[in-house]
Amino acid sequence: MTMQISSKLPHVGTNIFTIMSQMAMQHNAINLSQGFPSFATPEPLRELVYHYMNEGFNQYPPMMGIPKLRQQLAAKTAQLYGRTVSPDNEITICTGASEGLFSAISAVVSAGDEVILFDPAFDCYQPIVELNGGRAVHIPLTSPDYRFDWQQLRDTITPKTRLIILNSPHNPTGTTLSATDLDTLAEIIRDSNILILSDEVYEHIIFDGQTHQSILCHAELAERALVISSFGKTYHATGWKIGYCIAPPALTTEFRRIHQFVTFSVMTPMQYALADFLEQSPEYYLNLSAFYQQKRDTFCYLLEESRFKFTPTQGTFFQLLDYSNITDQSDVEYARYLTREVGVASIPISVFYEQLPQEHVLRFCFAKDDATLQKAARRLCEI
Ligand SMILES: Cc1ncc(COP(=O)(O)O)c(C=O)c1O
Repeated sequence: MTMQISSKLPHVGTNIFTIMSQMAMQHNAINLSQGFPSFATPEPLRELVYHYMNEGFNQYPPMMGIPKLRQQLAAKTAQLYGRTVSPDNEITICTGASEGLFSAISAVVSAGDEVILFDPAFDCYQPIVELNGGRAVHIPLTSPDYRFDWQQLRDTITPKTRLIILNSPHNPTGTTLSATDLDTLAEIIRDSNILILSDEVYEHIIFDGQTHQSILCHAELAERALVISSFGKTYHATGWKIGYCIAPPALTTEFRRIHQFVTFSVMTPMQYALADFLEQSPEYYLNLSAFYQQKRDTFCYLLEESRFKFTPTQGTFFQLLDYSNITDQSDVEYARYLTREVGVASIPISVFYEQLPQEHVLRFCFAKDDATLQKAARRLCEI
C-alpha cells in the first residue's frame, strides 16, 4: 500500500527568497534579493552575548521571556509610542517575528474566519491563516504610491472578518501608515469585533523625517491589536530570530497559549544581552533610520542614470525599481534574467500578490556596504 499524504499547504512551494538566493549563488550574482544586512551586529551586543554564555546563562528562560528584556521593551514603548504596557502580561518574547506572526494568527483565527491582507503581502501571512482554517482576502496596494485604500477596506469587510493584517513600514513597497490612516482605520472597525495584527519589524527604518506611527500610538486600536516586532532588522542580527509581541492582557493570554507549544522559550544569552543593550545604547535604534536613509540615497543616486524608474522608498531597506522602460517580460522572468545575465539578484514582487499586478517592478535590498551597492548599480546602469 502506498502511503497517502495530503498536503495542508498544497499550493506552497519553496519560497522566493530561497530560490533567488540559490540562483544568486549559482550565478555568482550580487545578492540584493533576500532582506538581510551585510553589516556586523554591533560589537558591544556580541560581547554581551559572549559574556552571558560564559557566565552560564544557557538554560531555559521563562516562557514569556526574561523580565529585564520585557521591562526594557515596556520602557521603550512608553517613551517612543506613549503607551504604558505591562511587562508581565502584555509582552512576550518570541522566536523572531515569524513565530510571533504564527502564534498571533493561530491565537485568533478559527475555521471560517476571513483575514484581510494588503498585497504585496509578506509571504507567511496567508499560509498561517489557511493552516488555521481561515480565508485570506486580499486588497492590492498599487503603484505609483502604494497607499492603503481605506474605502476598499470598508467594502471588503464582512461579518466574517476576524483580523486585518498591517505592515508598516511596508515590505516591499516602503509605504508607511500616517496618524490620519490610523484614525480612519479606527473609525472603520469601531463597531466590530475585528482585531488588528500589526507587523512592525521595520519600525526603526523610516525616512525623510517621518516618525513611525505604531499601532501602539493609537489608544483605541492598541486595545484590539497584536503588535509584532523583531530585533533582527534593528541590530543587523536576522540570524538570531528574536522578536516580540505586544498585546493587551486578554490577547497576550491567547498568544502565549500558542507560543508555549510552538517554541516555549527563546535563546537565553541573547535575551540578557539585548536587555542590557537596549538599556545602554538606545541611540543605536534611534540612529538607524539616518543610517539606512544614507544607504537609500546612495543607491538611488547611483541609479539616477539607469533606465529604471523609481520613487525613493519611505521605509524598510528595500527599493522598488520599475523596469517597464526596458522590457515587458514578467517580473519573475526578468528577475531570473538579471541574476543570470547581469549578475544582480532581486525579488519579483508579483509573487506577493493574489492577482498579478500590471506593474513591472522588482525589489532590491540596499542593506549592503557601499562597494556592493556601487558594483550592483554599475551593472544595472549598463542595461
Ligand atoms: C514584513 C516582515 N515580517 C516579518 C519578517 C520576519 O522577521 P524575523 O526574521 O524576525 O522572523 C520579515 C523578515 O524579512 C519581514 O520582512
